[in-house]
Parts: sequence; structure tokens; C-alpha cells
Amino acid sequence: MRALVLAFTLALLPFEPSSNQPHAASPFSPRFAADALVQPAGYDMWPLVGSSLGLSYTGRADNGPGTFHRVYMNPTAYEAFKKTGQFPEGTTFVLESYEAQAKKSIAQGGYTEGARVGVDASVKDTSRYRDGWAYFNFENGAAPTANPFPDTRCHSCHLAHGEKDSVFVQFYPNLRGR
Ligand code: HEC
Repeated sequence: MRALVLAFTLALLPFEPSSNQPHAASPFSPRFAADALVQPAGYDMWPLVGSSLGLSYTGRADNGPGTFHRVYMNPTAYEAFKKTGQFPEGTTFVLESYEAQAKKSIAQGGYTEGARVGVDASVKDTSRYRDGWAYFNFENGAAPTANPFPDTRCHSCHLAHGEKDSVFVQFYPNLRGR
């Protein structure tokens, strides 16, 4: 009975996002199915920390504008980062890619976002991943879960070039302070 009362009381405690318990679960915490990350639900309601157009990592001249990227961050981690300048455990980014579309509707010049062509994610979890972060691809949203990529495929570039804790903070106005 006592345990029941305790459980009930705990359930009534308000959720405190600024709690310094790094593992405090929130509705925005990453969910896993064994080693796979469950595609984060409702990420399009998360803060958009930055966007880019036509980033090329290889220096290869490309023929067109490339794709638009949007980077979303889970709200509890965003709030914590704003306060502390550190990415807490459970930080999740979703990177969406959109085709650049010309001459749609009244647009005579420039580009708007066309069809979505990619959904990727990254998660910080130092208890699961040796390098602290893992990276995932959700097949443009079609895959409900995704397994982490090997470090050599994704993390090595993030580690070498991401300005803060393997994240490309230098490209995100909301995180670098505009
Ligand atoms: C050669 C360098 C490089 C490699 C390899 C790379 N990325 Fe990135 N990634 C970037 C850059 C640059 C950004 C900055 C934002 C953008 O792309 O618009 C980024 C941003 C991201 C973000 C947003 C959060 C963050 O860390 O800044 C995610 C998620 C992401 N990449 C996933 C992946 C996945 C998944 C892979 C492997 C399949 C991968 N990346 C491989 C360079 C790389």
C-alpha cells in the first residue's frame, strides 16, 4: 500500500525539464527498440535550430542548388543547452532534407522547398555509445526504426568538424547565439 501511495505521489509530481538528472525521461526523450532508435514522433513541432541549402561536404562542383536541410532539436535538450551550453544525455537532432524547387506558383527566381527526400537523426547517449553520439537514417520517414551507422560512416566527420561536442553548432543560429 505504501508503495502504491508513493507511486501515485510520484506520478502527480510535475515534470521538471530543468532537473539536473540527466536521464530524467520526458515526452521528448529518445525511444529505443533494442539497438534501434524509434523514429521521433512529432519532431516537426520541435525548435528548428538552423537550415542550409546545397551543403557539399566533398568540394565537388554540383550542377544545381542542392537540397535544403532543416535541423530540429528536442525541446528539453534545447532548453538545457540554452542554460548550460552543453548537450545533455538524450539530446536528439532530426535532419530533414528537401529538394530545391524552382518556378513553383508565382516564383520566377529562387528556390522553395519541394519534396522531402531524407530524414536522419542523431542521439547523445554516453552509456550506449562509445563516442557519445550515434547517427540514424529513417529512409525518408518510411522506416519506423533505424539502427545506428558505424562510427566511420557518420561520427568521424562530426567529431572532426562539428564545433561543439560533435554537433555543427557553427551552422545553427539558435545554438551559436545568432
Ligand atoms: C563529411 C562530413 C559529414 C558526414 C560524413 C556526415 N555528416 Fe551529418 N552533418 C554534416 C554537416 C556539415 C552538418 C551540418 C548541417 C547540415 O547538414 O545542414 C551535419 C548535420 C547532421 C545532423 C544534425 C545534427 C548535427 O550533429 O549537427 C544530423 C542528424 C546528421 N548530420 C546525420 C548524419 C548521418 C546519419 C550521417 C551518416 C550517414 C552523417 N550525418 C554523416 C557533415 C557530415
